[in-house]
Amino acid sequence: MKNIVVLVSGGGTNLQALINAEKSGIIKNGKITCVISSNPDAYALTRAKENNIDTAVIRRKDYEKFDDYDNALTELINSKNADLVVLAGFMTILGHKVISAYENKIINIHPALIPSFCGEGFYGLNVHKAALSKGVKLSGATVHFVNEECDGGPIIMQKAVEVKNGDTPESLQKRIMEQAEWKILPMAVSLFCQDKIKVKNNITIIED
Ligand code: GRF
Repeated sequence: MKNIVVLVSGGGTNLQALINAEKSGIIKNGKITCVISSNPDAYALTRAKENNIDTAVIRRKDYEKFDDYDNALTELINSKNADLVVLAGFMTILGHKVISAYENKIINIHPALIPSFCGEGFYGLNVHKAALSKGVKLSGATVHFVNEECDGGPIIMQKAVEVKNGDTPESLQKRIMEQAEWKILPMAVSLFCQDKIKVKNNITIIED
């Protein structure tokens, strides 16, 4: 059974999807053992506590130097014996130390079809504003491993979602969460926990 540590900053609807998936058996061979938040007021922490999941808070602003923050986050994750780290709306940039310590063991969910609308500055509603400004007819979500390039790690799973006439960034965000994010994140986590994701030359191969 793999230990899953989920990093959050906000509402935690993706965390909730993972909790639900664990309970219903969609996540095989994995258990959410800790939720770490960058924000002490994140509602995601309440969701964790309601489900008797261990929690911790680590704030970037409590460390003067980025390297010290990077070391502290790495040690915190190490102390939780994480086999998999899931970024579920975690708003703080990860450093070299934690990324290299958990190579191909950190998964992120991005609310667009990478390589569209990703990279620096593409977070939250900005992503959906950019998609609507371009006039794309399909957007969606991508689950990928995290490497040192922002949103540039190996892609694990993607799901397309239709853009509709009259969509606002908010309505598109909601549809992408409901139809894509909350589905593919638990699926990817389950595949990881069953050792079904292989990475070769920055490309993943998913075993049946
Ligand atoms: C999601 O849209 C996710 O794709 C992005 O941050 C948002 C987090 O939402 N990385 P929530 O906290 O899971 O509700």
